[in-house]
Amino acid sequence: MLPAYVPNPCAAVFGGGRPIDGGHTLGDGRRILGDGKTFRGLFAGITCGLIVGSLQVKLLSSGFDFFGIHLPSFGTGYAGSMKVIFTMAFGSLFGDMFMSFFKRRMGLKRGAPLPVVDQLDFVFGAWLLTYLSYPQWFASSFSFWIIITVLLITPLLHLATNIFGYIIGVKKEPW
Ligand code: CTP
Ligand code: MG
Repeated sequence: MLPAYVPNPCAAVFGGGRPIDGGHTLGDGRRILGDGKTFRGLFAGITCGLIVGSLQVKLLSSGFDFFGIHLPSFGTGYAGSMKVIFTMAFGSLFGDMFMSFFKRRMGLKRGAPLPVVDQLDFVFGAWLLTYLSYPQWFASSFSFWIIITVLLITPLLHLATNIFGYIIGVKKEPW
């Protein structure tokens, strides 16, 4: 999950500048996505996901294990692994953007909390894009119990990361 987890905090740290929606509003008078979704955040986030993923691939190829537990792989070969890592990273930020679109349609301002959705939109985005692109890798990597575990652990990780980001001044809201 790391290539899907890393892009969001990296977007928060490095994001800003030109919004992806170009400042445009829809017929409802509200922004398409809002100022919280920027090109810099998108590219920085994907880049961070790719860097972390490629470090994982390197570790894996050197036979690394985590206290005796073998880490799962991203598939066979470097290029193949990087494609999976890309769909996890891009899918994560795409899921986040997709839900911002609906948050604006619901009349929620940029940064307004939408519990559960804020904590899991990026997970579903990453899973959906990766499943559609690499169904075999997805099926062999995410068993039912791994999926349940990720769904339970991620909101806690998300909250802890965002509180930390708020304290160090990177996030405007602690959620
Ligand atoms: N960010 C960005 N570009 C992205 C995603 C995030 O620049 N594609 C940055 C923004 O500075 C954003 C911060 O990361 O404010 C936190 O992201 P998030 O919580 O997803 O955005 P919100 O500001 O809460 O906006 P929204 O209500 O649309 O979720
Ligand atoms: Mg938010």
